[in-house]
Amino acid sequence: MYKILKKETLAPNIYLMDIEAKRVAKSCYPGQFVIVKMDEKGERIPLTICDYDREIGSVTIVFQALGSSTKRMAEYEVGDEFRDFAGPLGRKSELIDEPEAELRKKSILFVAGGVGTAPVYPQVKWMKEQGYDVDCVIGARNKDLIILEDEMKKVAKNVYVTTDDGSYGFKGNVNDCIKDLVNNQGKHYDLVIAIGPVIMMKFVCILTKEIGIPTIVSMNPIMVDGTGMCGACRLTVGGKVKFACVDGPEFDGHLVDFDESMKRQQMYKTVEGRAILKEKEGATHKGGGCGCSDDPADR
Ligand SMILES: Cc1cc2nc3c(=O)[nH]c(=O)nc-3n(C[C@H](O)[C@H](O)[C@H](O)COP(=O)(O)OP(=O)(O)OC[C@H]3O[C@@H](n4cnc5c(N)ncnc54)[C@H](O)[C@@H]3O)c2cc1C
Ligand code: FES
Repeated sequence: MYKILKKETLAPNIYLMDIEAKRVAKSCYPGQFVIVKMDEKGERIPLTICDYDREIGSVTIVFQALGSSTKRMAEYEVGDEFRDFAGPLGRKSELIDEPEAELRKKSILFVAGGVGTAPVYPQVKWMKEQGYDVDCVIGARNKDLIILEDEMKKVAKNVYVTTDDGSYGFKGNVNDCIKDLVNNQGKHYDLVIAIGPVIMMKFVCILTKEIGIPTIVSMNPIMVDGTGMCGACRLTVGGKVKFACVDGPEFDGHLVDFDESMKRQQMYKTVEGRAILKEKEGATHKGGGCGCSDDPADR
């Protein structure tokens, strides 16, 4: 059992929890995720690792109460326990293993949309701990939905907040803000790391392709087993079949087929849709197996 050590409301319907999970805390890295199951009958909920404390043995998650499971999860209080807290799952962020000399040469911009700020935070924090200065754009529909701004300001060199309705910070979406930084404020970036709603990541990638900035995104399709076996999280990257849970969740954003991913997400929700997908995807419909090959299409 995994005890809730801390609970905070960050914004309407957005909650932060510290969970006692010693083994996960010991081995996790930024970029990875966990699958939480509240009780015996609970649904499996994939959530990004937002922070961790190896000494205390705790892992921080941030979630939005959207559907029935996350709404139920929001009712849990400090001292309550989750039945399963499986992880760390997925690959760690590529930045972690990039040679220091290479990383030091790069000027990096993180772009965080909505609840996507949660998975951006541990990466920016890790960069700060290694002595790298990075910039960060945090975007939301309005002021009330901005999360982790103060925390981010402690770890990023510059934090640019943007709201669609202009109720706080820059007025516009994250793309408007990136354009302003590059075109009007003389900023130069060698790499963008964008995490947020799929539609946001798609449009950020269209923009960064135009202006020639390599971009990494973190995909969050429906996940079931989180081990590459079920095929739920399938997507196409550079023309190849990938599974977000074992091959990602981070990918080269300029190679991701976002439209297919969004369409597949919708279809996967219904029995009829899954039957169509099974026919269309043929032998590769099921998952990628054990995750031991770099290319699940070969498995
Ligand atoms: C890797 C990853 C991990 C995640 N982990 C978690 C998790 O741990 N917990 C959790 O609850 N959810 C998680 N999510 C889910 C995800 O972050 C939320 O579903 C998403 O952020 C929805 O937020 P929102 O409704 O506030 O978006 P919105 O408020 O609709 O948008 C947020 C920002 O995106 C911009 N935007 C929207 N559309 C466009 C566009 N077309 N062009 C340019 N900008 C646009 C907006 O302007 C705004 O700045 C994760 C997602 C990813 C990708
Ligand atoms: S969740 Fe990725 S293959 Fe099942």
